Amino acid sequence: MPVNIQNNVSLLPYNTFGIDVRAAHFTTVHSEAEMREALQSGIHPVLVIGGGSNLLFTRDVAGLVIKNDISYIKLERNFTKRAWIDVGGGVQWHTLVTWAVENNLGGLENMSLIPGTVGAAPVQNIGAYGVELKDVFVSLKAMETTTGRIRTFSLKECGFGYRDSVFKRELKGKYIIVSVRVSLTRPRHKLNLSYGDISRTLVTMGIDHPGIADVSRAVCQIRRSKLPDPAEIGNCGSFFKNPETDLAVLLKIRQSHPEVPSYPLPDNRVKIPAGWLIEQCGWKGKKVGNTGSYARQALVLVNYGGATGQEVKNLSDQIIQSVQQKFGIALEREVNIV
Ligand code: EPU
Repeated sequence: MPVNIQNNVSLLPYNTFGIDVRAAHFTTVHSEAEMREALQSGIHPVLVIGGGSNLLFTRDVAGLVIKNDISYIKLERNFTKRAWIDVGGGVQWHTLVTWAVENNLGGLENMSLIPGTVGAAPVQNIGAYGVELKDVFVSLKAMETTTGRIRTFSLKECGFGYRDSVFKRELKGKYIIVSVRVSLTRPRHKLNLSYGDISRTLVTMGIDHPGIADVSRAVCQIRRSKLPDPAEIGNCGSFFKNPETDLAVLLKIRQSHPEVPSYPLPDNRVKIPAGWLIEQCGWKGKKVGNTGSYARQALVLVNYGGATGQEVKNLSDQIIQSVQQKFGIALEREVNIV
């Protein structure tokens, strides 16, 4: 069946920030063949979206928006201690996590409840509570936008970093991720409880010997307590990355703010939580027009209803400026501005 391309479509249902802009042309694809056909429709430019959970639309979108809805989860290979799972790019990330936990496959539980789709996950190497996609990643298949050809990318070829990959850098706009292969543990799992919040939550849940389902439940509980549900308040999770700086910058901040949190990195570098920096600048819980910094996690910018993308972007510019002024640290956005 040829793909059905619609004109002048509202993107409101397709972005978790809840921004009401329009796409000149829009289609949903369910297979590689449909993706190829959509790419070859001759309409340019093309923007492929997954769950729309890392996008801030600041204006109407010219050209063709393609919603990737290639959805399957397939057990590809069974090894003694692991299994390889192939997943279509259109699958919701949390659907995959739930499926894995239900099938006693380990490795994804710390990344429970991350919004977005499997196809979008490698673009920014999603992560939470001490685990990143790259820790379970085997390979992915991506379609070249200009030729429709499929290429397989190994772990190394993806160039993963903190919220970063080649698909955000040198290959930006050149490939569309159609499926991802992950390697999950079974029957025994290696839990990652390094993140203080998880062990504390497991204690309050009364669990002494946690399994992957318990960790997943703990993570869901933590996320629900801190992060707004996009179904109720529009948002894209963390709006900024946690900045990396020289140790000297941290030591200087520590003189006036001894409580500053930080995570050590190699080579005398440290990561400082952006949420803390933003809170110190007085933005936490502050409402500016229809937008603001969330009261329970300053790093999350929200749409209280009817905000425009430009309004949110302006707020983020002001936040960047004030963190720069107060701490001399340049915050970088994690969210993609369109
Ligand atoms: N903090 C504040 N004020 C705030 C928020 C945080 O002082 O308003 C401090 C906390 O006290 C804590 C530290 O910042 O000491 C870290 O906070 P949290 O545990 O909430 O994590 P985060 O560093 O703010 C990162 C990820 C999240 C991920 C969590 C857990 C980034 C940009 N964000 O947030 O990812 O869920 O760690 O691993 O790395 C996302 O990327 O969308 C996302 C939600």
